[in-house]
Amino acid sequence: MKHLIKNDHICLSTFNYGATIQQLIVRDKNDNDVNVVLGFEKEEDYYNNPFYIGASIGRYAGRISKGGFSLNGDHYELHQENGVHLHGGKNGLNKKQWQPEHIVQDTDTPSITYTVTSPHLEEGYPGNLKVSVTYKLIGNSLKIVYEATTDRTTVLNLTNHAYFNLEGRNSVLDHELKLNSETFVELDRKLLPTGNFSPVKGTAYDFLSPEIIGTKPGFSGIDDVFVLNGKGPAAILYAPQTGIEMKVITNQQAMVIFTPEDLRINNFVNGAEYENFSSICFEAQTFPDAPNQPDFPSAVLRPGEVYRNETVLEFGLR
Ligand code: GLA
Repeated sequence: MKHLIKNDHICLSTFNYGATIQQLIVRDKNDNDVNVVLGFEKEEDYYNNPFYIGASIGRYAGRISKGGFSLNGDHYELHQENGVHLHGGKNGLNKKQWQPEHIVQDTDTPSITYTVTSPHLEEGYPGNLKVSVTYKLIGNSLKIVYEATTDRTTVLNLTNHAYFNLEGRNSVLDHELKLNSETFVELDRKLLPTGNFSPVKGTAYDFLSPEIIGTKPGFSGIDDVFVLNGKGPAAILYAPQTGIEMKVITNQQAMVIFTPEDLRINNFVNGAEYENFSSICFEAQTFPDAPNQPDFPSAVLRPGEVYRNETVLEFGLR
């Protein structure tokens, strides 16, 4: 089922399935409405969604190595393909029908909250897990809050997988990007963390000063984990054509950035044709494979604790 919330600045549509962001409309410098996320028209279109377009990802966003992990002396096996467990497994939270609750309309700060439960050992993860996501519009911002509790010690890493294009068409190669990250996670050929970190300095990942993505020397796409330095917004994306700027502000320590080279899809919502490098994902989260990486910040959630991922997308015009 589809839900729509809007205020004077932003209009957001979401689906129960995967608590998915379908459409996010903001106004450009010429007062035109622009849908800044990739989306399909119908909920059923998302049943086969290998790119996780717009979806809520869990229980563990990103990759886990070794076909599982050990926690407090117990080993938990996870679904894997070629030694990689990705985005919570075969039937992750992105494939669940979330329950819509607390729909607040007709105020300055409309919101919708979805909840879902994941039983003990679902997809191999311990603990009965209760998860909620709240999408709230505050002025020019969309605030996304994931919360979760468990009845047994578990590991958790939730995020949203929206793909952005601030023109609503074409590619993001003409967008300007600023990233407040000095370090990224070194990955092996399977895109699993090696445990080492690398400085962005001197690489195609150095966006500490704003640069046009497509003219960045050495740029050939990004599918990487950036360590956030906490200085200002994690990322600022800007499209000169529409004048739309988006700041990504998060309480998370890391962000996966993904620019799919081969995601050529029609955006059924506004009929736009996208080119190569059509869009960019900002997946604010904790570190992939933390359950198998003793030196990474812990991704453990214990009974009595509340997991909280708070990420704000703030829109403006330049
Ligand atoms: C994340 C990963 C990518 C890819 C996409 C989904 O961004 O880092 O490697 O799996 O999800 O297609």
